[in-house]
Amino acid sequence: MKTLVLNGPNLNRLGKREPEIYGSQTLADLAELCAATGKDLGLDVDFRQTNHEGELLEWLHEAADNGHPVVLNAAAWTHTSVAVGDACAQLTAPLIEVHLSNVHKREPFRHHSYVSAHATGVIVGLGFQGYVAALDAIAAG
Ligand code: DQA
Repeated sequence: MKTLVLNGPNLNRLGKREPEIYGSQTLADLAELCAATGKDLGLDVDFRQTNHEGELLEWLHEAADNGHPVVLNAAAWTHTSVAVGDACAQLTAPLIEVHLSNVHKREPFRHHSYVSAHATGVIVGLGFQGYVAALDAIAAG
């Protein structure tokens, strides 16, 4: 089963970006972990990252049109984008929202998500392990 693992803005900076919050591992490390996890679980993982909101919207439309499950870390757009929320509303297969950090322990503007209302489940604060748990939930579901 093809599963899209979609990552939003600034996540290409993992490893360099605020390591005290996001850790020292890179996006390439995360992609490798997701690919290996997908292999173990029998999922065909397609891992992507973009800094362009329209590109993320098009990937979500692709998932909606093809009935693909999605693991989504929309990063800052989680908290700002009605358009990302509207695209998530069109998904029919499971959607797992993931955040590396525990957004609820951080600034109040990170406490609201336009994605959560459309998500099957939400995983925050578990770092890279959150993506493993999300893929596991998709494989089990
Ligand atoms: C994040 C949390 C967001 O608030 C932030 O804007 C990010 C990353 C996380 O994975 O913890 O860029 O989604």
